[in-house]
Amino acid sequence: MQPDSRPGGRTTCGVKILGVGSAVPEGILTNHDLEQLMDTNDEWIVQRTGVRERRIMPPGQLRPTTTLSVEALRNALDDAQLKPTDLDLIVIGTVSSEMACPSTACLVAAEVGATPAAAMDVSAACCGYVYSLNMAESLVACGRYRRIAVLGCDIMTILQDYTDRGRNTCILFGDAAGCVIIGPSDDLSLGCMAQLMYADGSDWDLLYIPRKLTDLPDDVKPEDVKLGCLQMRGREVFKFAVSKFADIIAATLEKADVGIEEIAMVVAHQSNRRILDSARKRFGMPEEKMYVNIDYYGNSSSGSTGLCFDQVWRSGKVKRGDKVLFVAFGGGMTWASSLWQL
Ligand code: UT7
Repeated sequence: MQPDSRPGGRTTCGVKILGVGSAVPEGILTNHDLEQLMDTNDEWIVQRTGVRERRIMPPGQLRPTTTLSVEALRNALDDAQLKPTDLDLIVIGTVSSEMACPSTACLVAAEVGATPAAAMDVSAACCGYVYSLNMAESLVACGRYRRIAVLGCDIMTILQDYTDRGRNTCILFGDAAGCVIIGPSDDLSLGCMAQLMYADGSDWDLLYIPRKLTDLPDDVKPEDVKLGCLQMRGREVFKFAVSKFADIIAATLEKADVGIEEIAMVVAHQSNRRILDSARKRFGMPEEKMYVNIDYYGNSSSGSTGLCFDQVWRSGKVKRGDKVLFVAFGGGMTWASSLWQL
């Protein structure tokens, strides 16, 4: 590799995908299973969300986020034909870290044998994978790090209230992990062409996971909430998502001076099928250019974008040289994009 030398030992280079992987649990939780737990029905869930079933870790699984992340990372290392010790850094976007300390990334690095690679979690809700990808790409592009594993993993099923009280939220979510390993390239055209990351904490109470009663917003009654479970103001989140998804796609294309017709695939966080359809229609995109797997995996928060990318990569729906647009929004509130030349 012959990077451009910059003052202070910094360099710039292209960034290429070295390997991709994902992991989902074998267990399946269908809409019909949910009908047994609460007052809901398959028709309502499919119509409002597009979800038919979602993957679920076995209840009681020890360290579920670490377990699924390790599997996704091993698959990506195999794909890249790299050893764990080839990694300089492991970043995991997650809101379901096992503990506040250590990070899940540290546990994953130790389990796969990547020590002493740096390791950290990124908390950006459903944007975790895209935020992590943007930061990792920038670190490789400036020459500081050579091989970074970026993961998004969430075990959302342990954060749900599977009763009538939680029925407007739990029906959406499932468990998944996605991983991509990136590294430097001589080809300066490869890598991220434009990235955007935003947050607005003033709307935090649209989507949050309270640990204690004092975390609750003033207008929420304790009896309406199960602590430790995701709380969501669905309608408000829906409106936020529809507007931010379309705005950030437009702004990213403009920043990179790329037309929507040049994009081979939009790989979006699987929030709700109606949100994805609305963004796709706004840009007049054909269905096959926005990947959707929410029907069978649900919304797996940080896991969903990486899972989708692994599926489109492995199935040959995208190839080297293609332009792919990653886009996500989530709790925080956060929203982010990353436009790549693969
Ligand atoms: O990645 C995280 C980001 N989160 C999202 O993307 C979520 C965005 N929001 C949504 O996807 C939708 O708001 C939901 C799918 C969560 C809810 O759909 P909605 O069309 O906004 O429904 P709603 O909350 O306005 O409720 C409509 C009706 C209500 O009944 P009434 O008051 O009209 O009689 C609810 O009580 O549907 C009822 N309802 C249900 N009915 C059957 C709420 N949840 C359920 C349910 N089954 N599970």
